[in-house]
Amino acid sequence: MKINNRRYTGSKYKLMPWIKELILENCPEHDSLFDVFGGTGVVTAELLDITTTNIINDFLFSNEVFYKAFFEQKKFNKNKLECYKKKYNELDKNSLKENYVSLNYGDKYFRYNDAKLIGFIREDIQVNFENKNLSEKEYYILLTSLLYSFDRCANTVGHYEAYIKGKKIKSEFIFELIEPISTTNKILIFRNDANELAKIVKADIAFIDPPYNSRQYSRFYHVLETIVKWEKPELVGVAMKPPEENMSNYCRNAAPKVFEELITNLNVKNIVVTYNNTYDSKSSSSRNKITLEQIKEILEKKGKTQIFETNYNRFNAGKTSASNHKELVFITRVGDYNE
Ligand SMILES: C[S@@+](CC[C@H](N)C(=O)[O-])C[C@H]1O[C@@H](n2cnc3c(N)ncnc32)[C@H](O)[C@@H]1O
Repeated sequence: MKINNRRYTGSKYKLMPWIKELILENCPEHDSLFDVFGGTGVVTAELLDITTTNIINDFLFSNEVFYKAFFEQKKFNKNKLECYKKKYNELDKNSLKENYVSLNYGDKYFRYNDAKLIGFIREDIQVNFENKNLSEKEYYILLTSLLYSFDRCANTVGHYEAYIKGKKIKSEFIFELIEPISTTNKILIFRNDANELAKIVKADIAFIDPPYNSRQYSRFYHVLETIVKWEKPELVGVAMKPPEENMSNYCRNAAPKVFEELITNLNVKNIVVTYNNTYDSKSSSSRNKITLEQIKEILEKKGKTQIFETNYNRFNAGKTSASNHKELVFITRVGDYNE
């Protein structure tokens, strides 16, 4: 499984050929890239060949683990990982004991027996890491492989805001390994608040892809967060969510203010911002928190700004119902960059 083989709201994977072209044409310096809201990491991955230093950040625990698994250039034993894969796929689900995952998510997000298997594997990865049978890199690869594998059979529409009720869960869990990315680039990984990190990073380009609306990523992907952290908190409500954490100001009415603060503090030569024009959406939770006019005004204070747009349907085979749905990219040439 490759880095883009996961379902993630707002992933820019399909837009990357277009975005890469825009960067090459409009950002004269592109050695170092600061991917401020990294998400899946596909933006960094797709731009590795036109950069030499990559700084990638996201405040979710699961995304940090994925970055360490895919991007960190540390040695790992492929044969050992294949043995783990074989062992996990040969386990007899029926004979496994009830565990945290089956108790909380069984016959909800996963088939009951698959949930038992996922819980068993998570514990086994932890025990083997603590007993030093796995290096740190191998630990992150196995953990990421577990999450990417269960994402494929999760009983959801792609995120974990809720599970699908009233239907027999069809897909079955199979443990597959991810393929880490090999690169000679210098990679720096962070799990920080975007606005705090922006105060200390210097780069040629800042890539800004914040959440668009009031839907919090930490709530959408809570199952991934809970399984990565493995602190086994009490889960509540129909959707079995953990206590709130990493609630983003970009999903609140403060979004324009925090966006302006972020842009003001950035010490980069070029700023690339992606956004889409669903701010007049009928559903309030999917309505944009910052308008395009606000983004333009804030960026123009920082330097000359160009706006590029494309029809969303071009990348989604016409699957969206919003016929006027456009993807936008703003590119700002910063006037006051400090060497
Ligand atoms: C639109 S997604 C980015 C998608 C990414 N460009 C991709 O292609 O996969 C926005 C990301 O910002 C993260 N995020 C939201 N608020 C944040 C904050 N204050 N600091 C750091 N990350 C934040 C979310 O966890 C989410 O992964």
